[in-house]
Amino acid sequence: MLLSLTSLVCFITAASAATGPQCNPHTNGTTFTGTAGTEQQLNSTTIRKIKAADANQGVAVDADRFYSIDNYSITKHNKTTAKPLLQWYGGEYGPIIHLDGGVVIDGILYAPHSNYPQVPLTSSVEMWDTETMEHIGSRSFGIERGSLTWIDQDQNGTWYGVFANYDRVQAGQTTPYGLTMNTQIVQFNDDWTVARGWIYPAELWQSFSPMSNSGGSFGPDGWLYITGHDATAVYVIKLPDAGDIAIWVATIWAADIAGQGIAWDRSKERTAVCTASAGTLPRSWR
Ligand SMILES: *[C@@H]1O[C@H](CO)[C@@H](O)[C@H](O)[C@H]1NC(C)=O
Ligand SMILES: *[C@@H]1O[C@H](CO)[C@@H](O)[C@H](O)[C@H]1NC(C)=O
Ligand SMILES: *[C@@H]1O[C@H](CO)[C@@H](O)[C@H](O)[C@H]1NC(C)=O
Ligand SMILES: *[C@@H]1O[C@H](CO)[C@@H](O)[C@H](O)[C@H]1NC(C)=O
Ligand SMILES: *[C@@H]1O[C@H](CO)[C@@H](O)[C@H](O)[C@H]1NC(C)=O
Repeated sequence: MLLSLTSLVCFITAASAATGPQCNPHTNGTTFTGTAGTEQQLNSTTIRKIKAADANQGVAVDADRFYSIDNYSITKHNKTTAKPLLQWYGGEYGPIIHLDGGVVIDGILYAPHSNYPQVPLTSSVEMWDTETMEHIGSRSFGIERGSLTWIDQDQNGTWYGVFANYDRVQAGQTTPYGLTMNTQIVQFNDDWTVARGWIYPAELWQSFSPMSNSGGSFGPDGWLYITGHDATAVYVIKLPDAGDIAIWVATIWAADIAGQGIAWDRSKERTAVCTASAGTLPRSWR
């Protein structure tokens, strides 16, 4: 059932992060020395806003459709008309508790899932056939580093994701939900075992607190674009050549978004689809 009409999906087009060879993540030999808090400031332009009843947690997009994602529902929409086409609905008492985003690869929508805000923190990747919207697969991690909030493949087809942790003390609990500083970007092996991991610079994870990194998607330029839970901003990230702290390259202001989901539309030039709030939040995020 469609419950409300308050959530929005918006399409933004963003200025390219720092130009020049030193800023190409694939450039051999040179490292961008972006220091947290001194990152480049960029703006984006909202090119379209669409009401979508269940765009509360995330969005996914392919050539012809976009998908609004809530805790336990996914609605496929015609990208041109925005008309809802088909919905998967798991229901309040099903095994799918908290979906947080999605990415479509070769007709399969892969969605990060967790049992947020329950303890202990568990996560899985859930899969849907985008034609039929049937649930077709699941890869459970059990207890693994936090709550899985986004997954995506880089340009080489390698899977990455984030296991988020939170400073928030959840209802009925007595300790913080894992602590935001323990949020990790991970690279997965083909069998979804964790190959590598990185943390965010302190200034960045402090800006997410008491929530965490909610969305993430690799851009056409190879940079990783992530969102917090609330701020009207997208953060541009580079994985480091040395050490284990991700590099904060740029902040892109996007007045119409409010953290949560982000997915690059790979059928278009430099267009990303984000979740949005009807109002805008102040930029007092730092
Ligand atoms: C890496 O950069 C160096 C210096 O710019 C260049 O000589 C070399 O050919 C590059 N290697 C590759 C594999 O691109
Ligand atoms: C971004 O927008 C702000 C506020 O409108 C403006 O002051 C600033 O110059 C813009 N920055 C760029 C890089 O366009
Ligand atoms: C989704 O789940 C979160 C966490 O339990 C909850 O705060 C939120 O209200 C839920 N959203 C909806 C629309 O049910
Ligand atoms: C979207 O709607 C347009 C206009 O009605 C139609 O031509 C197109 O085939 C539809 N695409 C999908 C994927 O439903
Ligand atoms: C993609 O693969 C090539 C060849 O193995 C490698 O040189 C490059 O660094 C990889 N790119 C990323 C983003 O991992």
